[in-house]
Amino acid sequence: MPATQPTQTDQSDKEGWTKVASKSRFRRAPRAVPTQKDLVAAKALYGRCRDQQPREPRPVYDIKNEFDSFSTRWRESESHQPQSLQSLILEHHKHHAPVRKAVCLGIGTFDPDDGSWEVKRRAHVQLAAFMAMVELLADISGETISCIFQEPLFSSTDKDFLLSLGHEVVDSPAAFDAVDEETLLFAIHMYRPIYEAALERALPVMFVGTGWETWDHVGNLKEGDFKCMQEMHASHRLFPFPRDGTSTTFSSTCLYWRPISTRQETTNPHVHRLDESAPAADASAGG
Ligand SMILES: C[S@@+](CC[C@H](N)C(=O)[O-])C[C@H]1O[C@@H](n2cnc3c(N)ncnc32)[C@H](O)[C@@H]1O
Repeated sequence: MPATQPTQTDQSDKEGWTKVASKSRFRRAPRAVPTQKDLVAAKALYGRCRDQQPREPRPVYDIKNEFDSFSTRWRESESHQPQSLQSLILEHHKHHAPVRKAVCLGIGTFDPDDGSWEVKRRAHVQLAAFMAMVELLADISGETISCIFQEPLFSSTDKDFLLSLGHEVVDSPAAFDAVDEETLLFAIHMYRPIYEAALERALPVMFVGTGWETWDHVGNLKEGDFKCMQEMHASHRLFPFPRDGTSTTFSSTCLYWRPISTRQETTNPHVHRLDESAPAADASAGG
């Protein structure tokens, strides 16, 4: 979620992009979890997309071209990160369980009615990161990884775009049921009930989203709240997710990955246990 919201002082620069002026002279740190104010701001940002008059849908190839351009830029800048996503996965995959399926929740729309560049940019950059992870994990395992997307905001063009890339798009709550122990669950800046619904059946092998430490630090959880996230924090290894420059696209985002030896010791009767015969951990894994 953006740290600053559009103000009366928004201006368009020479390239025609809208610059968003911060209300403060100082850059504010991104907030950890959505507050009531964030929800109102998110509604303004995302809800605005639906409040506008109907318009001609954009052709899918426009969105595809936009994605190619955002994806190329993101991959280029990602490769210069001190710990890139690619190096993180290549370095640690031997000691962590493989991914066989991928579920992406709440990525936003690639086709906002008001054409908001920021809404599109966030969706494209998050898709670029998701696709890069899926491609690399599929290369490592030598198996295809099917991808499922769920986002109530999707327009028919959004759906056609994702279908054209060979992915599946489902209506809520179908994607929650698709999450199993071999899934990569990619869900950036989701609200707690969405995470709870997605983690109810099983803890995924890999998770990208707002992790336990962020929720816990806010201090409004009561004892026993958000057990599924706390359990994942205990059973999985935590990695910081590489940021996208100074933008908030991946703020407060972490990556959890289940080490090969970890059994899912859980108090949640809905969560299945892993096969107890899983190979023992390599102590040198650091994982
Ligand atoms: C705070 S926004 C985050 C959007 C984007 N991931 C980002 O970081 O900018 C939360 C998103 O969750 C989506 N959402 C709401 N209910 C959902 C559901 N049941 N399944 C999947 N996504 C949902 C909303 O439409 C919205 O796009």
